[in-house]
Amino acid sequence: MNENHQSKTHVFFSPTKIIVGLNSASQVAQEVKQFGGSRVLIVTDPGVVAANLIAPIASSLKSGNVDYVIYDGVEPEPPSRVIDRGAEVFQSEGCDLVLGVGGGSSLDCAKGISILAVNKGKILDYCGVDQVPKNGTPMILMPTTAGTGSEVTRVLVLTDEEQNTKNVVFTPYALANAAIVDPLLTVSMPPTVTADTGMDAMVHAIETYVSINATVFSDILAERAIALIAENLPIAWAKGSNSRARCNMSLAATLAGMAFGSGGLGAVHALAYPLGTEYHMTHGRTNAIMLPHVMRYNSPGNPAKYARIAELMGRDLEGFALLEAAELAVEAIEDLLDTIRVSCRIKDYGIPEADLPKLAAGGMKQARLFVPNPRDLNEDDVNSIYKEAY
Ligand SMILES: [Fe+2]
Repeated sequence: MNENHQSKTHVFFSPTKIIVGLNSASQVAQEVKQFGGSRVLIVTDPGVVAANLIAPIASSLKSGNVDYVIYDGVEPEPPSRVIDRGAEVFQSEGCDLVLGVGGGSSLDCAKGISILAVNKGKILDYCGVDQVPKNGTPMILMPTTAGTGSEVTRVLVLTDEEQNTKNVVFTPYALANAAIVDPLLTVSMPPTVTADTGMDAMVHAIETYVSINATVFSDILAERAIALIAENLPIAWAKGSNSRARCNMSLAATLAGMAFGSGGLGAVHALAYPLGTEYHMTHGRTNAIMLPHVMRYNSPGNPAKYARIAELMGRDLEGFALLEAAELAVEAIEDLLDTIRVSCRIKDYGIPEADLPKLAAGGMKQARLFVPNPRDLNEDDVNSIYKEAY
């Protein structure tokens, strides 16, 4: 570690309680009661309902005599209206606890509904950092992917349809009372979803690890997440029913979420966003595409941390100078992407080269994420990273 941990203040945010383990979904009724819930609003999307992932949760709630109502109106990259509508349902149904079940979009909507249940108004009223006056209604979050880490972070991302932009609500009141991470809920993910969401978790761990905001807490969590994902993502991708690999991926995604929930992201997420908004590619896939190219650009800014990533991914650093060892981390990521059949070439996704300036302009709009990035970027740098990635 090349950061001087003695010279900085360490801050760490986390949900009150985190329960991780196979079949932990069966404990949900007990957790609902512990946090004072008697009528639950399950916030989810139609895909989760169709995959029958609500069944183990509903069965726990029924056997615990807890009432529930399902709101399955969540859409990908959730528009603010989805959250506003969910808050209306919460009120009209007389619910007292929000239970988010799904990928990042469902969990983020649950956070927004919990906030609106107490603070009133529309979710767009609360965008920005620390704009929420009061803690929301009790909330439990249950991920059905191993990627976003949203179950343990204090941020929610939504789409402002009028402005056609992404917006964030950043507040400690977006932290859940409990996160229940049951790897059984992730077993039905197809290989491409396993790959994309798993790479999102890898990007969370790596970006936080090399960030100027890294702390001793985020380092410990990120290191473990990187090693677990490197070892288990190919197995979970190849054999979705491998419960050991699924357990390790669920654990890793939660650890990576805890790391970035208190550390921060960087240029990979910044340059991935325009690919998502322009071409409607998944968040995880766009991050996976940009990761090796941004790592190669960034590595002079924190070579020791990049070299350590190579080591965590199983590379032998013996005989390599520091910058060469850092390059091994990039190669390890490229090999991992090859294994799980994810191309990191923009041109492979049918995007014309003439679109690169548009992407660069979109990337520059996320410049707030350049601040914690280990190497400074200007518009020329952003252009050349996209060219490299093409
Ligand atoms: Fe992400």
